[in-house]
Amino acid sequence: MNSSIVVMPGDGVGPEITAAALAVLDAVASRYGHTFRLTEVAIGGDAIDKHGVPLRPEDLRVCRKADAILLGAVGGPQWDNIEVGLRPERGLLALRKGLGLFANLRPVAVHPDLASTSPIKSEIVSGVDLVVVRELTGGIYFGKPTRQWADSRGRLAVDTMKYREQEVERVVRLAFELARTRRKQVASVDKSNVLSTSRLWREIVNEIAPEFPDVTLEHVLVDAMAMRLVRQPGRFDVIVMENMFGDILTDEASVIAGSIGLLPSASLGAQKGSGSGRRIGLYEPIHGSAPSMAGQGKANPTGTILSLAMLLRSSLGLTEEAEAVDKAVSSAIANGVRTYDISEPGTSPVSTSDFGAAVASRI
Ligand code: IPM
Ligand code: MN
Repeated sequence: MNSSIVVMPGDGVGPEITAAALAVLDAVASRYGHTFRLTEVAIGGDAIDKHGVPLRPEDLRVCRKADAILLGAVGGPQWDNIEVGLRPERGLLALRKGLGLFANLRPVAVHPDLASTSPIKSEIVSGVDLVVVRELTGGIYFGKPTRQWADSRGRLAVDTMKYREQEVERVVRLAFELARTRRKQVASVDKSNVLSTSRLWREIVNEIAPEFPDVTLEHVLVDAMAMRLVRQPGRFDVIVMENMFGDILTDEASVIAGSIGLLPSASLGAQKGSGSGRRIGLYEPIHGSAPSMAGQGKANPTGTILSLAMLLRSSLGLTEEAEAVDKAVSSAIANGVRTYDISEPGTSPVSTSDFGAAVASRI
């Protein structure tokens, strides 16, 4: 196979973790005889420094033509005082929106050897295997108006949470379809006791559910879900929610796995062509750019490497290769290879690149 992948290292630890994932991709290419054409594209603060904007329109076009995109992370204190419309995060939001990536899949699985790494009791986190499906191109992240101004009484600001039925429908349907390939349970998260957007969300979920009689559905209010995620995470299979709820609850869910550095994500849009089963996709770890850790080899590239596995599976259709990457990560961890964030006290952690090499050597 000859595929084109755009690589966006971004800021902070982004370049280190993507380099580690690319070492794994190299190993996949030689083991399975594939050619991957890589194009590096700047995003976030990196793009601001190089081009003056967090994502150039011509770079968005390059992304649109690729088979898939692998991204590190964006943001950092040096760009904090830039006008809001030009902040590093805007580049990522423009990329998600520009490619129509409406569904963000964030799987949370606990490696048996890491159950004790979580601050939550290991009997609670052992065996957890859930996926959060986060709506990614709507809601309060994109609603208008959004601004801060001042009137005679002082400063005020507004953000707008808005959803159209089609936006809810497509992501909810994707969650039900995903549940069918798993344990056939969907939990839909909302705040329908307070928010209109949530009442619309729940209405639509209830309309779609009868199309999937084999899938069990439960509605959970977002505050209750914040609690249940750490009390009984093993009860959940697929959890679907709007954009900002998903941003918040997936940082919380990362604590179940032991470290935020472990969690991958896939952002998917509409299916490419008919019946190919492949979707245009952006793959990135869920953690941020961790500026204070940058350049020290301390970052855990697991989330990025597992994102690469999702890329191989969902955008390139390379199931066997994806499984090989997942297994190589598991085996490295099972053999005690640990980055700084998940190392036991008194043991010596390996660097970001050494972890990448340890995974690559197991492909
Ligand atoms: C994430 C990040 C982004 C988000 C930021 C960097 C814009 O926190 O992917 O979870 O809020 O979506
Ligand atoms: Mn986030």
